[in-house]
Amino acid sequence: MSSPSTTEFVIEPGPQLSGEITISGAKNSVLKLMAATVMASGTHTIYNVPDIFDVGIMCQLLESMGAKTSRRPGVVEIVVDKITPVAPFELVEQMRASTAMLGPLLSRFGHVELGIPGGDDFGHRPIDMHLTGLEKLGAKFDVSAKGVVGTVDRLTGGEVQLGFPSVGATENIMMGAVMAQGTTTIENAAREPEIADLASMLNKMGARITGAGTSTISVVGVDELEAVSHRVIPDRIVAATFLAALGVAGGEILLKEARYDHMGMVCQKIGEMGLRTSPDREGIWAMANQRLKAVDMSTLPYPGVATDYKPFLASMLCVADGTSIVTENLFAGRFRYVDELVAMGAKVRTDGNHAVIKGVERLAGGRVVSHDIRAGAAVIVAALGADGQTIVTDTGHVARGYPDLAGDLRSLGANIIERPAG
Ligand code: EPU
Repeated sequence: MSSPSTTEFVIEPGPQLSGEITISGAKNSVLKLMAATVMASGTHTIYNVPDIFDVGIMCQLLESMGAKTSRRPGVVEIVVDKITPVAPFELVEQMRASTAMLGPLLSRFGHVELGIPGGDDFGHRPIDMHLTGLEKLGAKFDVSAKGVVGTVDRLTGGEVQLGFPSVGATENIMMGAVMAQGTTTIENAAREPEIADLASMLNKMGARITGAGTSTISVVGVDELEAVSHRVIPDRIVAATFLAALGVAGGEILLKEARYDHMGMVCQKIGEMGLRTSPDREGIWAMANQRLKAVDMSTLPYPGVATDYKPFLASMLCVADGTSIVTENLFAGRFRYVDELVAMGAKVRTDGNHAVIKGVERLAGGRVVSHDIRAGAAVIVAALGADGQTIVTDTGHVARGYPDLAGDLRSLGANIIERPAG
């Protein structure tokens, strides 16, 4: 993706969805696993890697610091030898997940220089909790308009109480603690499955982490780690996107590799909307054979309904029977896609962090914009339930998080193509 505006999706009304697809590895896991590799010299091999744009940026970031990376389908190999703990601004500003370099670089080298993190266009996204947590372990930071410079002789274990279970802060403090002297406890830690996945790889590398996936994580510092191989967990947000698509288009699908145990709350919510889902030996089976029903929902840290699900769950509610209230508790600005849904005939009113959605029978096609990864997914899902043609522009954003959303939907029967922007 050279720019988000270089591609667009064209969606026409189509049949119900049917068939199966395989859910790839989780974006929000693989990027942190890749960041963690700088903590050990040697050759790391990561499997089940999604073919998404952000993996390419993370490869470039690692290369700029001295690592060597190579990719083949589903696999990234990272050779770590001499690392310079300086992450250039031009790369860091393109991707929020670059902040995951803070903990690993400080932990191993006692020094980090990082440009200001970029990422999605949904409001101010501070990193104060990352910094205060690492300060508790002895780091000193100098923050300027250009970025963050962190230094420490060696991090020292300590007790960190997070004011909010931030995913990124939990990951950075956990990675910082891995090679610190002594024991670190993180209270009110985020519990997302991607954090447990990161801890699982770090433990294979020789770390001593317990409690990842719960609110209290304990890390006993070690002196050295070694390079390992690791398989990324499946992407629960991508899987939920296909469930939303099914809800709007109807039909029956199998999401191979998807983990039902990572998606309990979202499956419960869409169950209240009328979808049937169940764990299958190979993944998650799902069926939609009735008009969706309105439900209220609020985004919450895991195991609550993730903020990342909300845009496409809102698309489902736009064509549900009744009125729903959707509350965003994590990112204040994450309602930009609503204007696009309204342009397609949805009846949505937003007020602060709430959206009131009055379901209509059908939406109408038109020309709409993909503002970020999930906002793009939301309008694409909505288009599956629209009369007439929908053109979704700026779909380069979608490539940051979905390996081939158009191709996968097409293989389930949707009438959708991706083409260069016209
Ligand atoms: N926050 C602070 N200070 C901090 C850190 C976070 O105020 O130091 C606030 C944020 O502004 C936000 C809330 O805490 O209001 C939650 O942020 P969190 O740190 O949990 O999110 P993140 O680590 O920046 C990850 C995912 C996001 C996902 C959130 C929430 C990655 C690369 N990103 O972001 O995923 O929305 O957790 O689950 O892991 C996406 O995949 O599209 C995406 C944006």
